[in-house]
Amino acid sequence: MKNYVAPSLLSADKENLEAEIKKVEALGAEYIHWDIMDGIFVENKSFEDSVVAKFHNCHKMINDVHIMVADPKHVAPIFIKAGADIVTFHYEAVECPKCAQKVIDLIHDQKCKAGISIKPKTPVRVLKKLIDKVDLVLVMSVEPGKGGQAFIPSALKKIKKLRKWIDKRNLNCLIEVDGGINGETGKLCRDAGVDILVAGSYLYGHDDIKERFETLR
Ligand code: DX5
Ligand code: ZN
Repeated sequence: MKNYVAPSLLSADKENLEAEIKKVEALGAEYIHWDIMDGIFVENKSFEDSVVAKFHNCHKMINDVHIMVADPKHVAPIFIKAGADIVTFHYEAVECPKCAQKVIDLIHDQKCKAGISIKPKTPVRVLKKLIDKVDLVLVMSVEPGKGGQAFIPSALKKIKKLRKWIDKRNLNCLIEVDGGINGETGKLCRDAGVDILVAGSYLYGHDDIKERFETLR
């Protein structure tokens, strides 16, 4: 099974975003991960849509936009317009499968791929009836809000369960994991059946980024 790497720009040098994006593209990254925070769903704020609009086209990777926001129905279309290829919102921001379905439909209606994410304390079962509706499931392996935190191992169980459900039903849904990914935790996630590893602080800001990137394969 091929696994993909999605470097997270949250840890990149914000003054040199274009160079930071091109650096990981040259290493072979297939996705570029944009973390969007509204200061409500999580404490911090991060990239504005204008930044995604400015840089979404300076590379050929998939713009993987993770919206950690309280109002995904409002925010998703803004980032689709800015150039997102996938928009992943949080189950906790909608709190019911029917409301989640509405956001998924809204994203799909705008010809964009839709992902859904769960925080570490949310059980994976809330996704059982949604995985055939989305293109991607994002398992958070840290509390969303900031980079550089330690990997929470309970994510592995969730990935294994999702892998089983997806394979059993032969679904076209990718599994992504985000938070605390390094060479060691990345391998554990790959063994558990993940498709995409998001990595921020492990990659950016290090001279040996190439070697680090290779350990995620
Ligand atoms: C956390 C973000 C992550 C973050 C990961 O809220 O969703 O994408 O950038 O950072 P690291 O890889 O440093 O844990
Ligand atoms: Zn993220």
